[in-house]
Amino acid sequence: MAKPIRFNAFDMNCVVHQSPGLWRHPRDRSADYRKLGTWLDLARTLERGLFDGVFLADVLGVYDVFGGGPAAALRNAAQVPVNDPLLLVPAMATVTTNLGFGVTVNLSYEAPLTLARRFSTLDHLTEGRIGWNVVTGYLDSAARGMGRAKQTAHDDRYAIAEDFMAVVYQLWEGSWADDAVVRDADGGVFTRPERVRAVKHESPWHRLDAIHLSEPSPQRTPVIYQAGTSPAGRGFAGRHAECVFISGPSKVVLAPRVAALRQTAAQVGRRGDDLLIYAMLTAIVAETDEAADALAAEYRRYASAEGALTLMSGWTGVDFAGLDPATVVQHVQSEAGRSAMENITRADPSRVWTVAEIAEHVGIGGIGPVLVGGPARVADALEAWVDETGVDGFNLAFAVRPETMRNVVDLLVPELQRRGRYRTEYPAGTLREKLSGGQPRLQAPHPAAAYRYNANP
Ligand SMILES: Cc1cc2nc3c(=O)[nH]c(=O)nc-3n(C[C@H](O)[C@H](O)[C@H](O)COP(=O)(O)O)c2cc1C
Repeated sequence: MAKPIRFNAFDMNCVVHQSPGLWRHPRDRSADYRKLGTWLDLARTLERGLFDGVFLADVLGVYDVFGGGPAAALRNAAQVPVNDPLLLVPAMATVTTNLGFGVTVNLSYEAPLTLARRFSTLDHLTEGRIGWNVVTGYLDSAARGMGRAKQTAHDDRYAIAEDFMAVVYQLWEGSWADDAVVRDADGGVFTRPERVRAVKHESPWHRLDAIHLSEPSPQRTPVIYQAGTSPAGRGFAGRHAECVFISGPSKVVLAPRVAALRQTAAQVGRRGDDLLIYAMLTAIVAETDEAADALAAEYRRYASAEGALTLMSGWTGVDFAGLDPATVVQHVQSEAGRSAMENITRADPSRVWTVAEIAEHVGIGGIGPVLVGGPARVADALEAWVDETGVDGFNLAFAVRPETMRNVVDLLVPELQRRGRYRTEYPAGTLREKLSGGQPRLQAPHPAAAYRYNANP
């Protein structure tokens, strides 16, 4: 049987995530991101649609590259205001039992001990449904907010991330033995001290001598997600990621990235298929092709070109303000996200992008493709994407909240199920077990496995 297609929802605790301007659509409820009910509804919808999970993006700074200041980002609510994503998880977990949570936390401004405890806490509270999207940031504004003049250079960020991972793996996997906690009420021993040990780490970036503060959680290490596909990002994904989120405007751009990611994993002894790769995509689905075309045209009228270029400037580090809309964008290397720049320059030599084309394309669903149609047309297109690029599934962004995802769940999922290309029930177990076909812990040669308490008695 052809491989099943997986869905994640791509969202963010803010008004405008990937579709700038659409918050103005009369049916859009994005401004209610501050209300808990919004997130509970989303979680229920996604679980009804048997999604692998909800992926919550995050940034710690404002998109102030466009025009050299935050005005356009603020005007357009382009990923600002933005609230903390982790705090949504316990609420969404109470109304679901299977949905996974892939949450973005930028490690550049974190201490390993406290980050590890936050994820362990959520792993306990969700009974093993938490994942961490490991990012290092791309906004200088975030660095300034943390007391630095600008962000660390691109490839150095990944080197520091490597060291950070070594520390948190030790905390999650190596500090407490599986049998450390005995809860022996008669003997008066909750935890056997001799089965807990301190993690000692000293490097130019991270230093600690401490035991992990949380007792072992169902998954120990959260499911590791990653989303950068520059050569350095790919290397990191190949070593650490269990799931990778990629984005690009076409199959031509994505297919080689998928192959390169799987090859990078294979180079470090993992199987290429150990990585689940999800492509960002927006699906505008209605009962019929005609109704969907009309819906997409209606949505388009609300897209904001300024909002789109504000986002794109932040992702690439290039200020698109004041450029002639007819200007063809040329490749420049920056210290922001490199794949974002590749997407519109070198990734597809047969295609050039003008500033106006970028503004229009990014207006709905960011730099990802937008599929429009009745269930059959969109399902055909998704099957072609999977078959031609080798992705495992899609990271579905919103055009209009919440109707984009409701239409996917009510119309597209049943069509894919009829075709035998979508699950009809959730597998059992933790998020890792569900994603990996039953594997509870990370196995060698994944670097986390080497830090297991029992691997080094
Ligand atoms: C689908 C997708 C989602 C991402 N989400 C976030 C995010 O929420 N926060 C963040 O700081 N970076 C995010 N990134 C950026 C990457 O983690 C990475 O920092 C960026 O792509 C630069 O790395 P690269 O040069 O290796 O591509 C995302 C990237 C992609 C492709």
